Amino acid sequence: MNKEIDHDSSIWTEKYRPKEFSEVVGQNDIIKRVESLTKAMNIPHLLFAGPAGVGKSTLALVVVKELFKNTWKENYLELNASDERGINVVREKVKSFARTKSLGKVPFKIIFLDEADALTPEAQQALRRTMENYSSGCRFILSCNYSSKIIDPIQSRCAIFRFKLLEKKDIEKVLQKIAKNENLTMHPDVLEIIYEGSEGDCRRSINLLQSTAAISPSINPDLVSTMIANTKPKDIRVVLDYALAGDFENSREKLLDLMLKESISGQDVVKAIQKEIWNLAIEPEIKVKLTEKTGEIEFRITEGSDPFIQLQSLLASFVLAGLGKK
Ligand SMILES: Nc1ncnc2c1ncn2[C@@H]1O[C@H](COP(=O)(O)OP(=O)(O)OP(=O)(O)O)[C@@H](O)[C@H]1O
Ligand SMILES: [Mg+2]
Repeated sequence: MNKEIDHDSSIWTEKYRPKEFSEVVGQNDIIKRVESLTKAMNIPHLLFAGPAGVGKSTLALVVVKELFKNTWKENYLELNASDERGINVVREKVKSFARTKSLGKVPFKIIFLDEADALTPEAQQALRRTMENYSSGCRFILSCNYSSKIIDPIQSRCAIFRFKLLEKKDIEKVLQKIAKNENLTMHPDVLEIIYEGSEGDCRRSINLLQSTAAISPSINPDLVSTMIANTKPKDIRVVLDYALAGDFENSREKLLDLMLKESISGQDVVKAIQKEIWNLAIEPEIKVKLTEKTGEIEFRITEGSDPFIQLQSLLASFVLAGLGKK
C-alpha cells in the first residue's frame, strides 16, 4: 500500500488527489515550470485557467505542501470567489490572514482563490488592489475556467498557466492506480468507456469508477455504460417532478444533492434537463418555452455565471409552468 494515500477519505477524488508533482498526470509543461518556480521559492502570482477536474486545485495544493511541508496549513488560505458573498469578505479574510508573517524559511504565504472568474469586473478591480497591498507577504494563486473573464490588470500581474483536458493515457494511469489499490478488476474496454463518458475530466472519471465499484468490484463495460446512461436522467426527473408539482424547496434540495454528491457539473445538469423535458407530461407549448429557457441558462453558465444560481432560476420556471397547468 502507498503511504501517501489519504486513507481517511472515502471519496476517491480526495483519497487519490496527488500530493507531489510527480503524481500529477498530464499538463507536463505546466508541472515542469511550476515545479521549478516552487523549488526556487520564487513564486509570482499564478493564474490557473482551464476546464473542470484537470488538476488546477490539485497543483495549487502540491505547491503549498512542497513549499511549507508540514506547516502548510498555517501558511495557506483557500477561498472560493463564488461562495464568499462578494469581494469585501475576500478582502477581510485576506487582510486577517496576511496580518501575520509566514512561518519558516519561505518569505510569503499563499492564498488560493478558486473560481476567480465568478467575480464581477468591479470586484476584480478590488481584488487587484488587495493583491497589490499584500504582495510583499502573500502570493495569490487564482483559478478559473476562462482566463478571458479575468480583467487585464490581474492577468498582467500573474504568470498564466492554461490547463488542458487530460488525455486518455493520463486518465488511464490514474484509474489503473486506483483499481489496483481498491482491488478492482477492470475489463480492458472499461477505460475507453469511462474516458469517453467523462471527456477528459479526471474528477468525473474517478467518480464514475467509484460509483460503479459501489455496485461490484468487477468493473465491466455494461455496468459502466449503465452508470453513465442512467444516473442523470433518473435523478433529474425527481428534481423536475418536484418543481412541476410546485415544491420548489425539495426540488432545489435534490438538485444540490445531485451536484454535490454525484459531482455533476451545472452544464451536465442543464443537458440532462433539456433531454428530460420531452418526457414530461406537460403541454407542447410549455415544453417549447422551457426548452428556450434551458438554452438561455446554458448560455449563462458557459459565460461564467454561478451554475447553482442559474439552475435555481431554471427550476423557478418549471414551478411557474407547473402552476400555470393547474
Ligand atoms: N492532472 C491530474 N493528475 C492526477 N489526478 C488528477 C488530475 N487532475 C485531476 N485529478 C483528480 O481529480 C480531482 C479533481 O481535480 P482538481 O480539484 O484539481 O480539479 P480542478 O482543475 O481544480 O477543477 P475545478 O475547475 O472544478 O475546480 C483531484 O482530486 C484528483 O483526484
Ligand atoms: Mg478546483
